[in-house]
Parts: sequence; C-alpha cells; structure tokens
Amino acid sequence: MTRVLVTGADGEIGRAVSGALVRAGYDVTALSLSYASPHPADRVLTGDTTSVADVAAALDGADAVAHFAAIPHPTLGTPYEVFRVNTDSTFNVLQQAGERGIRRAVIASSINALGYPNNLHRAFPPSFPLREDTAPDVADAYSLSKGVDEQTARYAHRRYGIDVVALRFPLVKWPEVLRAAAAEVAADPASMAREGWAYLTMADAARAVLRALEADVTGVLVAGLSADDILLDEPTAALLAAHAPGVPIEHPIDGSESLIDTSVAATVLGFRPTESIHDGTASAPPIALRNPR
Ligand SMILES: NC(=O)c1ccc[n+]([C@@H]2O[C@H](COP(=O)([O-])OP(=O)(O)OC[C@H]3O[C@@H](n4cnc5c(N)ncnc54)[C@H](O)[C@@H]3O)[C@@H](O)[C@H]2O)c1
Repeated sequence: MTRVLVTGADGEIGRAVSGALVRAGYDVTALSLSYASPHPADRVLTGDTTSVADVAAALDGADAVAHFAAIPHPTLGTPYEVFRVNTDSTFNVLQQAGERGIRRAVIASSINALGYPNNLHRAFPPSFPLREDTAPDVADAYSLSKGVDEQTARYAHRRYGIDVVALRFPLVKWPEVLRAAAAEVAADPASMAREGWAYLTMADAARAVLRALEADVTGVLVAGLSADDILLDEPTAALLAAHAPGVPIEHPIDGSESLIDTSVAATVLGFRPTESIHDGTASAPPIALRNPR
C-alpha cells in the first residue's frame, strides 16, 4: 500500500490525516470541494464525493481510501442535504473502491451513530460505558447517515471483499479548541452528558486512522474511540451522578475515566490514545495547521 486517497482532505481531520500519512511515507491523493490553504498531498484534486466521475479520477492509482468528506453536523444542512451528501458519498467511494479491487478503506463514523448526542428527545443511552453494540436511538439525519455509512461498509465488504474500518470519532479537535470547548461545557455539563463528555485529540485521531489503514483487519470493523479521560476536569462519576442520574454504570468509574469502551480499537487495531488535554501531552497543530478552525 503506497497511495492513499483522502476525501474531505481540506477538513480538520482530513488535513491532520493527510499530514500524518505524508510524514509516514505514503503518497497521498487529496479530494475536497475546495482548499482553504496549500495542502500536503502530492496529488490535490478539487471535486465532489457524490460525483461518480470525480471519485473515479481520484481513485486512480490509490491502494487504500481514508474517507472523511461529509457534512459533519445535523445543523449544517437540511436533513435532506445531510443524509444525501453523507450516505451518497460513502456509497460512491466504497462502491468504486470495491469495483477496483482496493483492499482497505477507513471511513469516519461517529459517536453519533448511536443517536444520543443530537437526539431532540434528550434520550440517554441505556448504560455507560458506550460500546459499539450499545442500542441506538436515532432522531436526526446526521446520526442516521453515520449508521447507514456503517451498513454501506458491510455491503461493500460482502459484495467486493474490501475490508473497512469505521472509526466512531467523538469530539475531535486540536487541543486549544478542545480546551475552549471544555470551558463552555463546564458551564453546562448536561449538554454533553449523553455522549459521556468524550473527546479525542486531533493527533491521536490521525494515529488511529493510520492504525486502521495498516492493522490486520478482515471484514468490517466498527471501533469506538476516545481519549482515556473526559473533556471536563472533574471526576466522571460525580458528573454522571449529577447529570445522568439513573443511567446504569456497568463498572466502577475511576477518576476522570472515559465513558467510551475502546477495547475493540485497542485489541484489534492496536490503537491506544496517547494524549490528554489535561496533562500537557496534547500536541499542538503543525505550523501549516495553526489557527485551527
Ligand atoms: N471533528 C469531529 O469532532 C468529528 C466527530 C465525529 C465524526 N466526524 C466525522 O469526521 C469526518 C471529518 O470531519 P471534520 O471535523 O474534519 O469535518 P470538516 O467539515 O472539517 O471536513 C469535512 C470536509 O469534507 C468536505 N466535503 C464535504 N462535502 C463534500 C463533498 N460532497 N465532496 C467533497 N468534499 C466534501 C468539506 O469541504 C470539508 O473539507 C466527517 O465525516 C465527520 O462526520 C468528525
């Protein structure tokens, strides 16, 4: 595997992953609707992941795909736009990758595949920690699109044999943005209770994608991700008692322990987060990515 197509390559995660791939020695094809600044990829294409022709051109020479192009929040489009763009893009990318005999894809799923963070009924999960098989409760088009994307991965594997890793990202940003988010959430902890105050630093997210491209995986793997701790600098159990009372906790929670079960990522992908925003381990963006959005 030498060339990786990164879709959504101008996005926050797409840029971080593209840079990490280049540093790891891969050739990178970038595909995005537009570019806000110079891109580290050696092949930079402007195009639409819902276009069959644009994706066909972008897949030329690619051995693997890392697919991030999407409308990343339910409020950033109408339900029709969000569902159509996200699911059409994932189908188009995996369908064409499968037809060409590409063996590996990584797609951006989300903690939202479970449907709780944006659920207008303010529904709580049936228990914590959240796992890949936690029962979903979906009431917004973005969350629905992420669940459908995971199902599209199962279709593509069954039809073409392509192995797909769907990474369920929590809130993923560069550290200064995460710390600003933490300050906001600290004023209203209930606002993030249903997603267990989960986060992952951008550098750890990029490392997870590289592991997902390289790990020995057959079939479709859905993997929940998070830092080992939570966004807020408070004991997790106390936050749960105050803001998620009555939600069963499956085992005693120590200190600021994460409420995402990341054992699948650890055991199958060999990925463990190495950074926290609370202890000085979180990496700042490379110079080219300063002033993160
Ligand atoms: N950042 C997070 O907190 C987070 C959490 C969970 C899941 N995700 C998922 O990770 C992926 C990347 O998220 P991000 O935070 O980098 O978002 P982003 O908005 O920064 O990046 C998305 C990129 O996709 C591009 N794009 C959108 N529609 C496109 C299309 N039709 N054709 C080509 N390019 C298109 C956009 O131009 C943008 O560059 C998304 O699938 C998102 O749903 C992100």
